Amino acid sequence: MSDVITIFDTTLRDGEQSPGCSMDTAEKLEVAKALVDLGVDVIEAGFPIASPGDFEAVQKIAQKFGDQTTICGLARCRKEDIDRAWEALQDAKNARIHVFLATSSIHREFKLKMAKEEIVRRAVEMVKYTCDQMATRSDITVPNVEFSPEDAARTELDFLCEVVEKTIEAGATTVNIPDTVGYATPNHFFKVISYLKENVSNIDKAVISTHCHNDLGLAVANSLAGVEAGARQIECTINGLGERAGNAALEELVMALTTRKDYFNVTTNINTPKLCPASRLVSKITGMAVQRNKAIVGQNAFAHEAGIHQHGMLQDRSTYEIMRPQDVGYVGTNLVLGKHSGRHAFRDRVETLGYELTDEDFQKVFDAFIALADKKKEIFDSDIIALVDNQSGSQIQEHWKIKSFHTLGGTGTIPTATIELVHENGDVVQEAATGDGPVDAAFKCLERIVGVSAKLTDYNVRSVSSGKDALGEVSLAIDVEGLTFHGKGVSTDVIEASTHGYLQALNKALSQNRGRRKNSEKGL
Ligand code: KIV
Ligand code: ZN
Repeated sequence: MSDVITIFDTTLRDGEQSPGCSMDTAEKLEVAKALVDLGVDVIEAGFPIASPGDFEAVQKIAQKFGDQTTICGLARCRKEDIDRAWEALQDAKNARIHVFLATSSIHREFKLKMAKEEIVRRAVEMVKYTCDQMATRSDITVPNVEFSPEDAARTELDFLCEVVEKTIEAGATTVNIPDTVGYATPNHFFKVISYLKENVSNIDKAVISTHCHNDLGLAVANSLAGVEAGARQIECTINGLGERAGNAALEELVMALTTRKDYFNVTTNINTPKLCPASRLVSKITGMAVQRNKAIVGQNAFAHEAGIHQHGMLQDRSTYEIMRPQDVGYVGTNLVLGKHSGRHAFRDRVETLGYELTDEDFQKVFDAFIALADKKKEIFDSDIIALVDNQSGSQIQEHWKIKSFHTLGGTGTIPTATIELVHENGDVVQEAATGDGPVDAAFKCLERIVGVSAKLTDYNVRSVSSGKDALGEVSLAIDVEGLTFHGKGVSTDVIEASTHGYLQALNKALSQNRGRRKNSEKGL
């Protein structure tokens, strides 16, 4: 029988640490739900001591999903960290605490200023302390404790073996081997894991895990090499999100193991058709776009343009396709609906695409579909996805909504925007502004009405499907008092999409009481 690889997702911890990717608690709960649906075995929900927000998110995720999967909290080798993590995880039926301490000579000398003996002593003491704390709960017989020697890939092998052996002896049930700075290569990483297997006397008492960063673009390859050498847990993130070049991408690892089962002879518990929906959700929430040719979840991942490929595909798909799009929940640009498609056909299509909408959300999306069908002859699956992602399930409080907007641009005119917004208390406010172009004018106008000063830090427009009448999706980010807020808008008119996206980001800033100018927001 083949082994099952434990998929440990750290999108909400290591992924969220990536600049500009921070999520609030409601967004983290949405991602956690998608991870549960996807079938991940362990969700690393955050670093509870890092901030009250991190603590709250781990606690809520533990309360809501801790009976469906294992919820993990990160802690340094310090009692305060471990106590805080354990407090956040109290309500999870299945809880894990992940403690870490750096072991490489560079980290020992420059960061920790600790000798090898001190590192071993601290790691052992804190793993034991974690086990003792967790064992105070009557339903826990074997505490689920993971230890990570940070920067393991650059640690002297014999010292790494000593730390791993002693932390297993102290009670660690998983030993994670991080390549913290993405320095390893596949053969090197294979040798590290093999060396641990051969030289740590009690290695069979714990699960070996990989945690690879992608600085050299090798995170997935290194993790797979780890599996070949005997690792049975992989730490990864959706879309490979993470600091710098990111972590190993969950979707790529899972599909490599699934597609090449003949080679790896292992399985996972991942419900692979949920891969693309999870990828879209994380991209939507973090504002981090997925590159078009990204393996598995990119827009082009299953598109065959070359004539010779298309010819082969028509004869037999296996000539050029090693995975079926539906097995990863990939949605192409199938022509599906038009102006005369009814409510039933639309609901049917939305459900086929994997969405479960409340009646209220369905109505919003259906209204948007009708409005779009008036402007656009053919509606594609990708259009429907853009509409659903932008209209439904949003936790964003709409302090202001657009009532009307008008822009003027072109050669020989001063670009101008006139916008009317409705406040949540019912007041309607109108403003006009000029700018470098109509988009700039519209953004200035919005800031004036809302009373928030923001700096645009990211702005992308993409065409959701094909054709001149395609929906344009604008994703943008603003900086307000040092915090980043993302916004997204879709429309066949990219100025309208930009205006919606900017207002969404401003509404998020207002919810956090950021950037309000005194005597502004029209006195509201
Ligand atoms: O990259 C790393 O070393 C980490 C540890 C906390 C496991 O993220
Ligand atoms: Zn990491």
